[in-house]
Amino acid sequence: MSEEFYKVAEMNDLNEGKLYPIEVDGEPICLVKLEDGVYAFTDNCTHISGPLNQGEFDGCAITCPWHLARFDVRTGKVLRGPARQDLYTYTVKIEGESIYVGLPPLEE
Ligand code: FES
Repeated sequence: MSEEFYKVAEMNDLNEGKLYPIEVDGEPICLVKLEDGVYAFTDNCTHISGPLNQGEFDGCAITCPWHLARFDVRTGKVLRGPARQDLYTYTVKIEGESIYVGLPPLEE
């Protein structure tokens, strides 16, 4: 099964470099617009679920507000511990001015 896409915002709603916490079908997701596109990643730090949207964002890296783990928001990769697991990143589709986020299919 393929991902299910949900419309989450319009391009004009987002300021570049600002973090937007949203909820899609019960999933906490953080959206950010960068120069080269829009990225969506889980809003729960993979360490012990710190709220990443409250962290500091710099270029393309988010720093968790709780214990300062850092992740690349484009790939989800851990840049600095204590987190060890990469962030889940969601597929983003832009059609016209509308932004859609794809949720993975539910496991059977
Ligand atoms: S919860 Fe994010 S670094 Fe600990």
